[in-house]
Amino acid sequence: MVDFTLTDEQKDLRELAHNFAEKEIRRVAWEYDKDGTWPQDIIDQAWEVGLMNTHIPEQYGGPGLDYLSGCLIEEEMGWGCSGIGTSLMANGLASAPVTLGGSEETKKKYLGMLTEDKKLASFCLTEPDAGSDVSGMKTRAVKQGDKYILNGSKCFITNGTYADWFTVYAKTDPEAGHRGITAFVVDADSAGVTVDKKEDKMGQRASNTATISLNDVEVPGENMLGEENKGFKLAMMTLDRTRPGVSAMAVGIGRAAFEYAAEYSKERVQFGVPIAMHQAIQFMIADMSTKVDAGRLLVWNSAVLLDQGKRNTLISSEAKRFAADSAMEITVDAVQVYGGYGFIKEYPVEKLMRDAKIMQLYEGTSQIQRLVIAREVLLPRNIDETTPEAEAKAKASEGSQSEQAPATV
Ligand code: CAA
Repeated sequence: MVDFTLTDEQKDLRELAHNFAEKEIRRVAWEYDKDGTWPQDIIDQAWEVGLMNTHIPEQYGGPGLDYLSGCLIEEEMGWGCSGIGTSLMANGLASAPVTLGGSEETKKKYLGMLTEDKKLASFCLTEPDAGSDVSGMKTRAVKQGDKYILNGSKCFITNGTYADWFTVYAKTDPEAGHRGITAFVVDADSAGVTVDKKEDKMGQRASNTATISLNDVEVPGENMLGEENKGFKLAMMTLDRTRPGVSAMAVGIGRAAFEYAAEYSKERVQFGVPIAMHQAIQFMIADMSTKVDAGRLLVWNSAVLLDQGKRNTLISSEAKRFAADSAMEITVDAVQVYGGYGFIKEYPVEKLMRDAKIMQLYEGTSQIQRLVIAREVLLPRNIDETTPEAEAKAKASEGSQSEQAPATV
């Protein structure tokens, strides 16, 4: 059975997120974009109304929302301003590996920091010479007694300047390729951590993007996430869980551009009629509408699979690839519908076109999504098809363990 009906809670949540995006985010979006203003005031408000840390389980103070609900929120954030939305949602990327792989104490401490106070965290995977090629990372973690010493550099780190802790991936066995990577939680105020540079970006200018350097940073062994040398898999499982939300944000950007273009086409008169009466414009609007709706279906499918406890790698990458590329295409066409005015900053679609570009780059480029899709379709591997969350839930309901999900990778 296929049922696209949202529950009353999901409808309420979407309405809350939409109203927040309209009243709090859109109101300042173009101004914050112009100056690259850090949206701390909006982060604080989003935290207060419960729109942050959406997937942190209830036992660690979060709302423990299902993935579909998270996507409903993220679409609205993308519709309001994806730069501000990215600032609000980055805690989800940093906290997912902790939820999946942290010990009980680590989860209580670090997830609790995000839910008890307005703290931020960042996901540190990418390096200057290792973007798409995760296993090419150079950051080193060397075991010394009961701690690890980390050295290296991480770049393009969302919220890096303001984060209180980082999820850092490092090589513990440099000869072992992807099987020699381990994940750790690192406190931002640890000796040897420096936040080096805030990037001046083309789009999503209200989001903070920084470079983090680690120089002989001591990390307690208990801050390791999952098992030693299993960090690559943990990163992939994290991205499976966050790509639906990022894709939803791309749908939100596309939807915003589509709405602006459709509205403008009814007002702008050329050759004696609104340009909406010209077939050239109608076809662009029709394609925009189709791409928004098709993208949302893929996004919802990728989220619902996770909610059902099934691995969603294929659909998650399809959603990301399609929604990101669609956001780019829709915003380019929206500028076209506006004509020369679309190129002027005074009109809304110029910002949306700049914002859309990063959707094809971060959390895996559109080319990497195609690579993942092709491997899933052509070269299926031996990866568990049931999620660890579902396994933990099944065991808990059998009464064979406590309610808390164990370290899973
Ligand atoms: N779940 C579980 N295991 C998985 C998996 C998944 N989804 N995908 C792969 N694996 C496992 C494989 O089974 C394999 O296991 P074995 O050790 O048993 O062989 C192992 O992981 C290696 O997999 P691959 O052979 O596919 O690895 P690869 O080196 O060829 O790389 C890749 C695969 C898809 C290219 C990967 O490197 C990748 O996703 N790259 C893009 C990284 C990315 O998205 N970066 C963005 C960072 S976040 C960000 O953007 C920051 C921000 O703030 C927004």
